Amino acid sequence: MQMKKAIQNHCTELNSIQEFNPQAVMGKFTRVEMCRACHSSTLHHFLSFGLMPKPNGFLTKQNLNKPERYFPLNVDFCSTCGMVQLEEVISPNELFDHYVYSSSASYPMVEHLRNLAKELVTRFSLSQKDLVLDVGSNDGTLLSVFKQLGITILGIDPAKNIAEIANAQKIPTINDFFSQVSAKKILTSHGTCKVITIVNVLAQIPDWDSLFAGVKTLLHKEGTCLIEFPYLVDTLKTFEFDTMYHEHQSMVSVHPLSIALRRHCLEIFDVKHDPIHGGSIRVFISHIGVRKICKRVDVYLDEENTIGISNPDIYSAYATKVYEIRDEMIQLLNSLIHQKKKIIGYGATAKGNVLLNFCRLNHIQISAIVDSTTFKQGLYTPGSHIPVVSESQLDKLNPDYAILTAWNFADAILKKNKQRIKKGLKFIRPYPIPTVL
Ligand code: TYD
Repeated sequence: MQMKKAIQNHCTELNSIQEFNPQAVMGKFTRVEMCRACHSSTLHHFLSFGLMPKPNGFLTKQNLNKPERYFPLNVDFCSTCGMVQLEEVISPNELFDHYVYSSSASYPMVEHLRNLAKELVTRFSLSQKDLVLDVGSNDGTLLSVFKQLGITILGIDPAKNIAEIANAQKIPTINDFFSQVSAKKILTSHGTCKVITIVNVLAQIPDWDSLFAGVKTLLHKEGTCLIEFPYLVDTLKTFEFDTMYHEHQSMVSVHPLSIALRRHCLEIFDVKHDPIHGGSIRVFISHIGVRKICKRVDVYLDEENTIGISNPDIYSAYATKVYEIRDEMIQLLNSLIHQKKKIIGYGATAKGNVLLNFCRLNHIQISAIVDSTTFKQGLYTPGSHIPVVSESQLDKLNPDYAILTAWNFADAILKKNKQRIKKGLKFIRPYPIPTVL
């Protein structure tokens, strides 16, 4: 009965989206009934973004006039363990076969990954005979640093186009999803791994049991698995809600993750905070009983307990604030448009596409989005159909305002545009409340 009502709601919403994007059609999705971390069915809806196209579904000019698939974007929390996850998921093949995200396109990210590799080599005394596996290795930016440091490397990534780029750059990369099955194949071909890195990929993996069974299979008996991901507690504090989208199916904290790991006889022995992507944590994992557990792990668990990650109140307050931010953003942009100001976006990010579609902004209000990723340039943003151009077009575009759709790299972007800011370019930061800087 409830499902029928949800389908009716989607149809009504699709009709209204078609006024904004006549090519919009419904895509296929599956409803998630069980918590990915603790396996309970105590999932509660708290936030709706409505129907959205795939956030990385950039379009070619020819595809602008073809049907564009939309999918529901609803978010649940688990009242048993505090996991936050999407209510509906779409097929991983649909999301990841061809990918436009490239780690090397954002230089702060390149720097971040370089420091991470150096830290791991030093902390775990890695040497040439040790194998490092990077799960979701993208274009090999992280592995290339391990390679420079003389460590044996292997990547695995499901995006064919990206794996090809990495292999061409002599970063050995298997083109596949990481799972229990692919882990067994890697064990046969390469042996165990001293370090397994999973950086900004955990949220993209729907089946955690297959993931952690794979880690258990491949991890050397004294090895470390490092998982880095945007931290739910930071997202709850900063209200940067646009990191919740079809690829990011989970918003994770230490408590639910530790429950899922224990099912596979793995445990967290250290946690470290990093400001990247609005606040992330690095979680260090070993086989159970191998390493001394750092006191920091309890500090994180205690804080999660204190703020109440399984408590409905925090999520209802969060949702109220999200709708407020959307309304403020629409109001601010409408007032600028009324003053005939030229507005662009800075960074053709997946998160920016969530924000733009949630606010129902399109190419009429936002004339272009600049981005440093060569594969995104010349394409159009999903749903909103805004042309993506290179940063070198900025002066020609001569905008009055730029929305920081890559707000996570605000410092780097503001620094490189210092001269333009002096000449009058103004940036809009969407969070914690839309503000002209
Ligand atoms: P990211 O925030 O990682 O994206 P997503 O939300 O898709 O995960 O990517 C940042 C984007 O911003 C990336 O497409 C490159 C772009 N970018 C610029 O265009 N200029 C810059 O100076 C920086 C740092 C990033």
